Amino acid sequence: MQHATAPVGGGARMQVLICTSPAQAARSAASAVLAGLPGARKEACNDGLPPVLGLATGSSPLGLYAELGRAVERSEAWFGDAQGFALDEYIGLPAGHPQSYRRILEREVCAVIGLATHRLHVPDATAETTGTAAGFTRRAHDYERQIIDAGGIDVQILGIGVNGHLGFNEPGSALSSRTRVKRLAAQTRADNARFFADPADVPTHCLTQGLGTIARARRLVLIATGSGKAAAVAAAVEGALSASCPASILQWHPDAVVVLDGAAAARLRNRSYYDDAAAGLGTP
Ligand code: GLP
Repeated sequence: MQHATAPVGGGARMQVLICTSPAQAARSAASAVLAGLPGARKEACNDGLPPVLGLATGSSPLGLYAELGRAVERSEAWFGDAQGFALDEYIGLPAGHPQSYRRILEREVCAVIGLATHRLHVPDATAETTGTAAGFTRRAHDYERQIIDAGGIDVQILGIGVNGHLGFNEPGSALSSRTRVKRLAAQTRADNARFFADPADVPTHCLTQGLGTIARARRLVLIATGSGKAAAVAAAVEGALSASCPASILQWHPDAVVVLDGAAAARLRNRSYYDDAAAGLGTP
């Protein structure tokens, strides 16, 4: 397939799509993903590398993944030869732990959209393989290499943390960072405690794609719904481009799509402009 290309010349843009419901946001986000993956069709002429999808965990993209699954059922999409790259992985969980991001993505993405589990790449951070800091650095470099060897990520799907994090790039992360070890913020560990029997079981560290890694994807599609994300979304879309809000890198990316429901968009000052812009040129 031809990899999708980011707009060139004056074409760089950040689109903000404000939807009437989480279900509509899931449909819009799935359309934005498929528009960036022209090779994700069975009849696509794959004269190059297969499509490469960047995958986020979390509840935010679940509806989007379900929509991609429906598109597969309708034969409007096909991920049979696609490759998937996770944003991040906890350090130190046993291989096969149900809350490891590998297992989560196998359940919530591979099984839903027909992505082969052997083409799902996740940073190697399980308890069995953990070791020295140098060992983690090597694994992080390996992960960057795998992404490059796959031809780069065509579309990176993103959620956003309530503190504005992307992947596990917590506030203060270097804007040009690559895959590396990060300590989880206290807020993030508290947010993710709901998935573990005991809050103390939430890992303290992770391997995560860096903000510079994420920014190299040819298209970014961020989905956020619910009032809990409204402040983070406002900081990301309308605040300063700053390491204090890692998701603000979307403002700088040449092809970013931010898909929201009304609750997540509630603190945006320029909302009516985004609605007008999304309506396009219209009819004169
Ligand atoms: C985790 C993940 C992020 C995700 C965030 C928000 O911390 N590392 O990639 O975006 O949670 O999750 P949710 O969508 O469940 O709010």
